[in-house]
Amino acid sequence: MERDHARWFKPGLQALPPVKHHLVDDRLHRLQWNENPFDFPPDLKEEVLQRLSATAWARYPLGLRPWGLIDRLARHYGVTQEEVVVSNGSSDLIRALLAGVLSPGDAVVMPAPTFLLYRQNARIQQAAIVEVPLVPDDDWALPVDAMIDAAVAHQARLTVLCAPNNPTGTVYTADQVRRIAEAVPGLLIVDEAYAEFCDQDLTPLLPLGNVVLVRTFSKLFSMAGIRVGYALAAPTVAGHLQKMITGFPISVFSEITAEVALDHADRFYAQRDLIVAERERIAAALRDLPGLRVFSSGTNFLLVEVPGAKHDLVQHLHAQHALLISDMAGYPGLDQCVRISVGAPAQNELVIAGFRGHFG
Ligand SMILES: Cc1ncc(COP(=O)(O)O)c(C=O)c1O
Repeated sequence: MERDHARWFKPGLQALPPVKHHLVDDRLHRLQWNENPFDFPPDLKEEVLQRLSATAWARYPLGLRPWGLIDRLARHYGVTQEEVVVSNGSSDLIRALLAGVLSPGDAVVMPAPTFLLYRQNARIQQAAIVEVPLVPDDDWALPVDAMIDAAVAHQARLTVLCAPNNPTGTVYTADQVRRIAEAVPGLLIVDEAYAEFCDQDLTPLLPLGNVVLVRTFSKLFSMAGIRVGYALAAPTVAGHLQKMITGFPISVFSEITAEVALDHADRFYAQRDLIVAERERIAAALRDLPGLRVFSSGTNFLLVEVPGAKHDLVQHLHAQHALLISDMAGYPGLDQCVRISVGAPAQNELVIAGFRGHFG
């Protein structure tokens, strides 16, 4: 019997396109997903493995939540344990937040372009997505008044900001975010996935009560493969979010790795300084080439608008230099843009040489 399997799922899910298969060739220089180019240091991996081998694998972790990590995070960022929610990557916290907050028809306000996962999760919940365009001619500046007007006019249950923004790299000042938090009628998610690359820490906004900071170990701490993210929010907000998270959300391996990373945070910040210096070096080199527009970035990647057939550039970098970068055609307003993660210095040399070869 022919069955319409789609109808067994929520209408919002039925409307989404199928998940694409991404199989990445590991021999390429992978500069397309904003990863940290420096792997987790080998001596710290050793420390993780030693602690892991002294841990019982047959047992569920003690307590439903990773209390050891929650305690470390609370002490590291000067908040209470009740304000911390840990899960399996910040992607899972985004899913949990949007599923926990939005019902069909609820308004969610976000800038455009921004990280696609917000739009995707809002569509699954059949929320009414209100996008406020960033200003491309002003380096993708955030129109704060327009964000507030949209949130108030639609009585938005949720407003979302990625600070700094993926994929534009734009930094929003603490004052801009505070103004929005104070004026919106509902919750404000501030996704700080890249905040360390512009030395921003919006923890002082937590007392406003409606701010949820979403953070990840994937970027600064070179742990994208380990999958740890956390949210900080006022205790009552964190308490509701916690109900959306499964018991034992991360493995003992992930928990131990995140604890070791925090114990050695200085080393990751030193690597961060190098990544930031490299970002500015690439930006300066590309700005010297005719017709390119390199947007300012507070992250570990650069958004670049290129003249002519972008496909040819992507192909040239791939074929001549084994470089993989992101074509941003899927994002509103970014048809002529590519996004390049900052790599290790030798990889960045290839990027500069590849662009010079194509445009010089
Ligand atoms: C803005 C933003 N938030 C969240 C994530 C997801 O990170 P995680 O690895 O913690 O799921 C990304 C990943 O690129 C991102 O760009």
